[in-house]
Amino acid sequence: MSCRQYSLKIWNTFGINAYANNITIADSIDTILSCRWKQSVKKNEPTLLLGEGSNVLFLHDFHGHVFINRIKGISVTEVADAWLLHIGAGESWHQLVRKTLIHGLAGLENLALIPGRVGSAPIQNIGAYGVDFATVCEYVDIMFLTDYSQKRLYVHECCFGYRKSVFKNTYKNGYVITAVGLRLKKNWQPVLSYSQLRHLDPKTVTPREVYQTVCAMRRSKIPDPKHIGNAGSFFKNPSVTMSFANDFLTQHPTIPYFLKNNGEIMLSAGGLIDHCALKGYRVGGAAVYDKQALVLINTGGASGQDIINLARFVRRRVAEEFNVWLEPEVCFISSQGEIDPVEVIV
Ligand code: FAD
Ligand code: EPU
Repeated sequence: MSCRQYSLKIWNTFGINAYANNITIADSIDTILSCRWKQSVKKNEPTLLLGEGSNVLFLHDFHGHVFINRIKGISVTEVADAWLLHIGAGESWHQLVRKTLIHGLAGLENLALIPGRVGSAPIQNIGAYGVDFATVCEYVDIMFLTDYSQKRLYVHECCFGYRKSVFKNTYKNGYVITAVGLRLKKNWQPVLSYSQLRHLDPKTVTPREVYQTVCAMRRSKIPDPKHIGNAGSFFKNPSVTMSFANDFLTQHPTIPYFLKNNGEIMLSAGGLIDHCALKGYRVGGAAVYDKQALVLINTGGASGQDIINLARFVRRRVAEEFNVWLEPEVCFISSQGEIDPVEVIV
């Protein structure tokens, strides 16, 4: 079968026009396990499971079979102090946030408008505006693709951290996330630690007001992939030791930074790129977004290679200027599957 048969353009938010051998939309575990997946494994053909493709960059055509996860279902159980939600991995994350608020269940409002499916949320432990997935997670259900057995990992087993989890290493290959469990506490407390939420009064603010403020903030600086191809932050914010930070911040006092719980300092990658005056900088069809330097965009017709060339340039400029090497947050997909992004952009 020709590997140029099925376009992936609508299946990745960068809007890269790569092709796959085949694409199957899977609305149940049974469809994933259908003869198609097993045939691919038998033929030694690469397989790739996608949610919304909002955290991937296709470098080339994918010489394998792409499965789009649309396993649905939301069930809610009430216990004394919380609402317990069991959610199919193919549900939309943002729609889940909306639905919970409509039904009076608070706790996800800071994570509004993050693209992607529920099953992808634990992988990089999605986070925004002072809250991350780990805060609300109860468990993650996975299926082993070797013997199709299933396992439930409770939150303490998921090793969540900043943009990391056990699903980025131990359970990275040969596993599918099929569902997640969330615990939304009835005793809701607003999280207003992010600078642009601090004007809200913690005594009177409602979950809906936090949601609306977060949505407005996001719309003002993060491009909507429906109109401008992108994958959110392209790089992670780099962590540095306190002693590096002391010298660094003396030399560069205007670079924004955050204090981490472990005593390290996290520098703002967007601030570093911005300081290099790279907003709007273009390579082929790729550009640094002019309202948020951490977001790389497809200005129309960009190839995966254009984005890589731009990312490499940005990374080198930041290193020349600050001696800090940025690491991509986005997953890089080559013809045979996911590859180490740092090796690609050195
Ligand atoms: P995909 O991109 O489809 O997949 C990502 C990776 O996970 C791939 O390697 C894929 O194979 C694997 N995968 C997907 N589903 C499964 C599964 N069920 N089982 C096993 N592996 C799977 N992220 C944040 O943390 N915070 C933000 O504020 C944020 N803002 C964003 C804003 C924009 C405009 C965009 C485009 C992205 C943003 N992101 C943000 C990144 C992205 O939304 C998240 O990483 C999201 O969780 C990705 O979901 P997805 O379903 O699109 O995953
Ligand atoms: N900044 C600049 N110039 C820029 C961009 C940012 O000076 O061009 C400064 C801002 O002024 C601010 C600081 O950098 O002082 C931080 O910026 P922002 O609050 O926009 O957040 P970020 O660190 O750039 C992170 C996440 C986002 C998440 C926001 C909100 C990472 C890699 N990115 O961005 O997540 O939505 O915080 O919490 O941690 C994503 O992961 O895809 C993503 C969008």
